[in-house]
Amino acid sequence: MASADRVVIIGSGHAGVSVAAGLRTRGFSGRIVLVDGEPGLPYERPPLSKELLKPGAPDGATPLRKESYFEGKDIERIAGATAVSIDRARGMVALSDGREVGYSRLVLATGSRPRLLSVPGADLPGLFTLKTFEDGRALKQVLAPGARVVIVGAGYIGLEVAAAAAKLGCDTTILEFQDRIMSRVTSEPVSRFFEQVHRANGVRISFGTAVTALGGDGRVEFVATADGTRYPADVVVAGIGVVPNQDLAEAAGLECSDGVLVDDAGRTSAEGIYAAGDATRFASLFDGASQRLECIQNAQSQADRIAADITGQEPGEPGVPWFWTVQHGVRLQTAGVRHPDDETVVRGEPATGRFSVVYLRDGRISAVDTIGGLSDFNPGKRLVAERATLDAALVADPGTPLADSAVPALAPSR
Ligand code: NAI
Repeated sequence: MASADRVVIIGSGHAGVSVAAGLRTRGFSGRIVLVDGEPGLPYERPPLSKELLKPGAPDGATPLRKESYFEGKDIERIAGATAVSIDRARGMVALSDGREVGYSRLVLATGSRPRLLSVPGADLPGLFTLKTFEDGRALKQVLAPGARVVIVGAGYIGLEVAAAAAKLGCDTTILEFQDRIMSRVTSEPVSRFFEQVHRANGVRISFGTAVTALGGDGRVEFVATADGTRYPADVVVAGIGVVPNQDLAEAAGLECSDGVLVDDAGRTSAEGIYAAGDATRFASLFDGASQRLECIQNAQSQADRIAADITGQEPGEPGVPWFWTVQHGVRLQTAGVRHPDDETVVRGEPATGRFSVVYLRDGRISAVDTIGGLSDFNPGKRLVAERATLDAALVADPGTPLADSAVPALAPSR
């Protein structure tokens, strides 16, 4: 029998923990069970590719909440056991340790996993991915001065790890498939700026490079690419994107398409089952585009809407998605989601190391990147929230405050 008023949450990253916290904040008095495959307290992931890799950094994970928080809020935690199947008819989740947990509402916050490099030799020791605290700790142990580190993929992971490796004195090379770094998330001017930052800090970058094999005698010794080059390597790090963890949902018959499909309230196609975070695909609340969003803000916003739906309350305003990365001490902060076809307007001079790039879609701001200085970040985020129409010429003039570049909405005609 399913238990009345028992919410079971599978996964305790930002999404899962935020659902549990949001339910209590909204006065939910039933049982909450948080199931997670990893042992220990739920923890922050952003430091894994940043602070954790710094010399002398504390060797522990940064907890999302203290143990006393979960106890005080009466949130039961099952850590170290994964959910292996969902029996929708009985309202039960089977766990890897043989237990079953009954639910009246189920929340899938199963996250994403690193995409694997599928080439010969990818099973050799010496190849790393970065998702969990244990991954980060293992990587930290091998980033020794002089180590030859080859990074596959110039996305967030590859670039943050490259910066950390270079700082630690590793001989660092990035192999990227595309013709510029961070091509998924930003525009050419920002990519070129950060490319120069990396090169200035001794990181080699090779574009248009397809990895064909890893080789070595018992452990990785080189990376082979399609143009016939062999890059000597003691350590290889693959940061080539993520895939949503939707297997559990799919096996339970939930609609999935590169992500568990959810509506504005976080509801899946199955009655009483919700999903939040990296694992989900949904229509943007701003422009309706089908998307997966790998960011903390989205996980928290979806979690809030789920908690509101379960408790029958109004959700908070949907926030603007935002992202940040730090590479060689230079910060990139992004608000909104850029589309590759958006008009790109640069504010300020990239050579100074402080500039912004504003993205316009049919004249409306869709996103803003701020680099080095953050004065445009908050005004830009507000303008994205308002879906404001901007005057591109004023946007391009760094002497005009970004907020003043908005074109006043036309008064309705009488
Ligand atoms: P990503 O999608 O940001 O970048 C992957 C890169 O790998 C792309 O540039 C892509 O062109 C390249 N690539 C793909 N296949 C390749 C291949 N076979 N050979 C060479 N290059 C290839 O994914 P990434 O960096 O793995 O990060 C995964 C996720 O981790 C992010 O989406 C994000 O959720 C999270 N993350 C976010 C951070 C942040 O926001 N600062 C920092 C670290 C991770």
